Amino acid sequence: TWTTGNVIEEQVAAIRAQVGDKRAICGLSGGVDSAVAAALVQKAIGSQLTCVYVDHGLMRKGETEQVEKDFVAATGANLKVVDAEERFLNALAGVSDPEEKRKIIGREFIRVFEQAQLEILQEDGPEVAFLVQGTLYPDVVESGGGTGTANIKSHHNVGGLPDDIEFELVEPLRQLFKDEVRMVGQELGLPAEIVQRQPFPGPGLGIRIVGEVTKDRLDLLREADAIAREELTAAGLDTEIWQCPVVLLADVRSVGVQGDGRTYGHPIVLRPVSSEDAMTADWTRMPYDVLAKISTRITNEVADVNRVVLDVTSKPPGTIEWE
Ligand code: XMP
Repeated sequence: TWTTGNVIEEQVAAIRAQVGDKRAICGLSGGVDSAVAAALVQKAIGSQLTCVYVDHGLMRKGETEQVEKDFVAATGANLKVVDAEERFLNALAGVSDPEEKRKIIGREFIRVFEQAQLEILQEDGPEVAFLVQGTLYPDVVESGGGTGTANIKSHHNVGGLPDDIEFELVEPLRQLFKDEVRMVGQELGLPAEIVQRQPFPGPGLGIRIVGEVTKDRLDLLREADAIAREELTAAGLDTEIWQCPVVLLADVRSVGVQGDGRTYGHPIVLRPVSSEDAMTADWTRMPYDVLAKISTRITNEVADVNRVVLDVTSKPPGTIEWE
């Protein structure tokens, strides 16, 4: 019979058999899958695992701390955090096109992650031969079912390393669906904020600022997003809503009035959607009083935002994200 206890026991034994006394690396994204995969492997092989978290500066308020503090506290994992905010911001400077942003963020991410892998390879200790990935059953089916290896090339001029290193993949979630992964994560003691996290795009807030991405704009959006999330959670809407992108229209200004003065600020868009699988979605008919509270708080608490608007478009024709 299927129980989370059985799954954990089985996977821990399988991971131990696969990895032996070698070492493994796992990239953490802040999302559910990589966190649960890492926690399982940590339970199996302990200090033979090193986790890597690339802080690209595009996460929401508190999310990096969740990985750095709460994940480590819950699992005891070795964590290497790479602070790459400046690097990502420099690479994104002057860029407004959404696909261009995605390409830049993806490219920089791989570079920073590979650099971290090379540094781990150079540490003293057993051979690093494995890369942990949070592949789920639906991903396995979609990609035809094979297991694989991953290459990294040492094109970073680090020196003293073979030209091409091949990792064998460890994929402990290959037989699980998302809800089962959440149950396993909970059983492993991961915090609810990580285990119950709604979908969030890899490029993060970088694709929720319509216009150029800058530190000031990210900070502003982080504040607005934190308010929206806080109120949605307080209203008990987290399970009803699939996800709620909060978007800054950075190049749009509109006139407002606050106190005695005229303002000329930016709009924030709320995009609450209901969905089964993100392929199609409908805008969530959420309570007006919750919308009112979010609107009042954002316009009162976030400088330079003087208008909050609700996106009432289904998917199709609108995508869930604005970029
Ligand atoms: P769209 O906007 O295409 O989003 O309706 C569908 C789902 O995918 C997420 N999304 C992304 N996830 N990298 C990701 O990892 C991306 O570039 C990306 N773009 C969209 C989005 O949040 C939604 O859950």
